[in-house]
Amino acid sequence: RVINVVLSGGVGSRLWPLSRKSKPKQYLPIFDGHSLFELTVKRNLSFCENVIVVGGKDNYELSRESLERLGVTGYLEIIEAMPRNTAAAIAFAAFASQADDILLVTPSDHLIQDESAYAEAIREAIALAGEENLVTFGLVPTKPETGFGYIEHKGNEVISFREKPNKVQAEEFISQGNFLWNSGMFCFSSGVFLAELQKHEPEVYRLSKLAYECADEGFLPAEESLQIPSISVDYAVMERSKRIKVVPSHFKWSDMGSFEALYEHTPVDDPNRKGTNLAIGSKKRVEFLGVEDVILVETEDAILVLNRTHAQDVKKIYERLEKEN
Ligand code: GDD
Ligand code: MG
Repeated sequence: RVINVVLSGGVGSRLWPLSRKSKPKQYLPIFDGHSLFELTVKRNLSFCENVIVVGGKDNYELSRESLERLGVTGYLEIIEAMPRNTAAAIAFAAFASQADDILLVTPSDHLIQDESAYAEAIREAIALAGEENLVTFGLVPTKPETGFGYIEHKGNEVISFREKPNKVQAEEFISQGNFLWNSGMFCFSSGVFLAELQKHEPEVYRLSKLAYECADEGFLPAEESLQIPSISVDYAVMERSKRIKVVPSHFKWSDMGSFEALYEHTPVDDPNRKGTNLAIGSKKRVEFLGVEDVILVETEDAILVLNRTHAQDVKKIYERLEKEN
């Protein structure tokens, strides 16, 4: 059995005001009427017999609505009491499945194009995962981005996995030429993943197992969850395991994390693009004069105007508003 494990934990605070606690970015129907969550599930339906969604209390109804709209029947929802990061989130899905199930772990907020290159990569990954490997998907880096993991490789062999390097290291990796970006998607059997987690992060293994065993109809308990160390799967397992493989991949991939990414995704001839400026979501006529690289975002109750070089800082506005509320 191949199971698509969809991680749907985040709010997408860098996309405020589009993205709200009550409507995180992966559920917004902003890609030709589809949400990133729906596109993710749909993309993997032909490879996977089942879907397990791991997400928070604020999201599970949105996930269910999307799954039902897509006509998916074989799904399970695991509802976290609080986010404990990706090592634990993936562990919950692994505890919910059989040791020989293959898990195709995908974030719910990435945009992927080129279905045939994607299908090729997934098939190769499923085959490698069947040979007791933890499989990553590597993409050719285009800039020394510090927000990603880097995979030093030779073919499918991984020499090292380096999560979130600093700028100097990232530049070095790019100039060396044998590093790929980690896509944030993974493929492995449930049993191999849990064995590696237990080996490298025994506390995460033990405490997420405990929390999982106390779950009530998919809802994880708060008290036990709070004890689980918050660490990403990249630091917990990928940087340390000797069983990592990579599938060098050629699909078009973007982590739709910020307005900068949405900007780059918008074609130059889109009617909302005016020179170097962009209007998002406004029902009014928007004109720009004497400004460059400005993004205007409008919703029912909020307007955000930003220079696109500040796209990463939108998170700070979200955090400030959270505190005020
Ligand atoms: N359910 C759940 N619970 N999901 C979570 C949690 C959690 O506690 N924490 C994060 N996620 C989800 C996020 O919503 C996202 O879809 C995915 O897991 C990855 O988490 P991010 O927080 O976005 O990770 P990142 O972007 O810093 O880094 C990862 O992705 C990069 C590519 O986008 C790493 O895998 C990097 O190596 C990789 O390059
Ligand atoms: Mg991310």
